Amino acid sequence: MADFYITTAIDYVNGSPHIGHAYEKILTDVVARFHRLTGDSVYFLTGTDEYGQKVQQTALKMGVTPMAFADAKSAEFKAILPRLEITNDDFIRTTEERHKKVVGEILQRLFDKGDIYKGEYRGFYSERQEQFLQEKDRNPDGTWPEIYGAVSEINEPNYFFRLRAYQDWLVGFLAENERFVFPKFRQKQVTEFLKEPLNDMCISRPRDRLEWGIPLPFDDAFVTYVWFDALVNYFSAVADRPGVWPATWHVIGKDILVPAHAVYWPIMCHAAGIPLPRGLLVHGWWLTRGAKISKSAGNAFDPMELVEEFSADALRYSLIREMNVGQDGDFSRELFLTRYNGDLANDLGNLVNRALNMTNRFAGGAVPPAGAEHDLERELRLAWEALAADYVALFRQFQFHTALERLFAFIRSINAYIERRAPWKLGKSEDPADRALLATSLATIAEALRLSAAALRPVMPASSERIAGVLGRPPAGTWAEELAWGRRLEGSRVATALVLFPKPAAERAP
Ligand code: MSP
Repeated sequence: MADFYITTAIDYVNGSPHIGHAYEKILTDVVARFHRLTGDSVYFLTGTDEYGQKVQQTALKMGVTPMAFADAKSAEFKAILPRLEITNDDFIRTTEERHKKVVGEILQRLFDKGDIYKGEYRGFYSERQEQFLQEKDRNPDGTWPEIYGAVSEINEPNYFFRLRAYQDWLVGFLAENERFVFPKFRQKQVTEFLKEPLNDMCISRPRDRLEWGIPLPFDDAFVTYVWFDALVNYFSAVADRPGVWPATWHVIGKDILVPAHAVYWPIMCHAAGIPLPRGLLVHGWWLTRGAKISKSAGNAFDPMELVEEFSADALRYSLIREMNVGQDGDFSRELFLTRYNGDLANDLGNLVNRALNMTNRFAGGAVPPAGAEHDLERELRLAWEALAADYVALFRQFQFHTALERLFAFIRSINAYIERRAPWKLGKSEDPADRALLATSLATIAEALRLSAAALRPVMPASSERIAGVLGRPPAGTWAEELAWGRRLEGSRVATALVLFPKPAAERAP
């Protein structure tokens, strides 16, 4: 059973994981963790997409079998997940029996219904995209856009899925389900696409041209065309887990929305009698100086290097803070370092150390009870309450960048509070009013920090836990309770120090 089933796209195994792949896993993980914190029972799936021409060709060039090649590459994608703190419940490979079996069943069902027929295919085929192209895909000067790589003309018998027969149904479905695609402007893109008549979908390749695929159950001279096979992963992974399907969200990049996820997949489900997924959460691309980060563009860099050098949390934070979900974003090491040094090391890291240091110096290491609230304390509490009132809603609306922007503004206001209240001055005074205010200020700082750490849980799970740990109280109760300003830390013994975000090696003194 699951109330909330979320998936990522399954990655092609013809490259190595880059920041775009890492981001999609992290984004999905943030949504999954958030939903678990709100009490949902979450099922989270990711995996690898392993069949197709390119894998066959690359393996051949390397002198290994496609299976051996896919095994090695899939393992590479799988290995980054724990290092990015991804909490997926399952990892599906399209080469697994459980997947092939379900693909075969769906194909047979559609064939028996008459939704799949044999025809003659003539057309231009892009090996890079593993798809036949249409005239409208050409550049105005008649050439093919670079994203298609080498394009060749092909004429061959193949099997087709009657996409066209379901076009009106899909148009109606999207009109009734205006929020099927997030963000909304991407749904418009789908409805625009559907204004033109659809071509039926070519779902096979002759086996003498492509051996590396799932054989068609009704004609084993053919293998399944990659999209028809790959899309089914979302369903095949949970086919024997009652109560999980339908997916709540398929998280995907904008490049695979139309036609794959917004046209092929809903029609495939509908025709096969499978309930439809509830929504598509579509993110933009990470760019470097305006170009998509990808293996073929040669500008991909290894996200794991940043994880090794800094931490998974630092990468997670910078990606989620920087990207407005749905838009494109720019990423570079410089940008990462600005966030790391500014928000993380300076604002949050220093706050943690000041809080621990002052609690040890002025209160013997235990958070004192808060006394009467003065203006500055009230101001800080109200700032928190204003943020907390919106925070969960911002997460629900996938506005993580805004939620984090506001949270870090709050963290800076804790630092500003410390400057203005200056506990170190109060600590020198013998006046009972000053002593009371000192206790109140230490309690206020600790509480504000505890709340900030609690709010960071879906995005920076390890740091959040470490901060809760040094404050002496692991999180307890529901997330909503944890996010309420209170007196939970009263009497709690704090640690002496915690270096959460060490200075980058290059900037450390020799
Ligand atoms: N195998 C297909 C998906 C099949 S899903 C049934 C595929 N694989 S991919 O490896 O090319 O891309 C996997 C995901 O990573 C896609 O959602 C894609 O949009 C995303 N990204 C790849 N490069 C990206 C960026 N530069 N930026 C952000 N995400 C991008 O497509």
